[in-house]
Amino acid sequence: MLQPRNGSPQRAGVLQSPAMRAVLGIDTSCDETGVGVVIDGQVASNLIASSAQLHQQFGGVVPELASREHLRALGPLIQAALAEAKITRYQLSALAVTRGPGLIGALLVGLAAAKAMAYALHIPLIPVNHLEGHVRAALWGSDLQPPFLALIVSGGHTTLVEVKADGYHPIGQTRDDAVGEAFDKVARLLNLGYPGGPAIERAALSGDPQRYPLRVPMAGSDSLDFSYSGLKTAVLHLLRTYPDANPADVAASFQHAAITSLVNITQRAAAQLGYTRVLVTGGVAASCALRAAFQQTALDAIFPGKGMSTDNGAMIALAGYAQFDQTQGWDLGMNAVPYLELGKS
Ligand code: KG4
Ligand code: ZN
Repeated sequence: MLQPRNGSPQRAGVLQSPAMRAVLGIDTSCDETGVGVVIDGQVASNLIASSAQLHQQFGGVVPELASREHLRALGPLIQAALAEAKITRYQLSALAVTRGPGLIGALLVGLAAAKAMAYALHIPLIPVNHLEGHVRAALWGSDLQPPFLALIVSGGHTTLVEVKADGYHPIGQTRDDAVGEAFDKVARLLNLGYPGGPAIERAALSGDPQRYPLRVPMAGSDSLDFSYSGLKTAVLHLLRTYPDANPADVAASFQHAAITSLVNITQRAAAQLGYTRVLVTGGVAASCALRAAFQQTALDAIFPGKGMSTDNGAMIALAGYAQFDQTQGWDLGMNAVPYLELGKS
């Protein structure tokens, strides 16, 4: 294993406090190029270039297009994120990068860039699990300490985990579609565009959630698992039966059923395991409707701050910052892992 310097290389003309620890984080797991800088535990910049517009016409992410957009966007975004954080690349202490889970071609773009930078700057390269990044995003600024319950809800995951001092203990997950994926698919059925979550939430604002009583997934079950493909199919049948159905009412009814299921199962898990505080994170945690639904419960739900729910680079920098002292050095042969499990990096 190559051994980089455990800190920032000094360069002539660059003023630097010797104690400063600055980590640049890169996320290219899906269609968002995210670059963020964390200095001494605080988010100093967090910039995102999204290729979602490009995927709109296809109704979902086209992996090769996403990879090409990462390649185009990443370099300038790194420069801009450093400038916004008011540091130069020579002041970085480490590079953190998403190793997985995610789209393989997209992950490889970020990983290759991070390896090249870490090697050139002679600083550690920290591989980060994207889901760990989501958890760190919500933890930032909160006093929550393990053990606690975490609900991770994104386009690829719907997972309940117990977070203990010794790591992550999954207790429930989706048996089929992820909840974000269901939002995206239903938005497509309603011609609301991509990404579906924000589009459904906007449409639902003027809709009646009781107009179409859709069955709440996993209601009346003891399981801590989720399921969303039945709800998506129910919307498909509804639209076939009522082709003139009001899209806002359908969006509101779907959103209500999807969110009620998330909240019910989380409450069930909290009651079974004796938790009163829950961390809710991932792209779907951007939903104001989900936040409002948790507020109606007795649980103390902790959500990420503004711009930190959906994919971003600062969450990867935060996770890298937390792993800094355990990082051995560079592994320049490191590969991306599209199905990386939570707890592994
Ligand atoms: O975490 P994320 O940015 O990417 C993945 O890791 O998958 O999550 C993206 C998912 C998409 O499915 C998107 O539709 C969903 O999060 N999402 C939302 C909202 N904003 C984003 N779902 C519901 N309501 C929202 N406001
Ligand atoms: Zn994500």
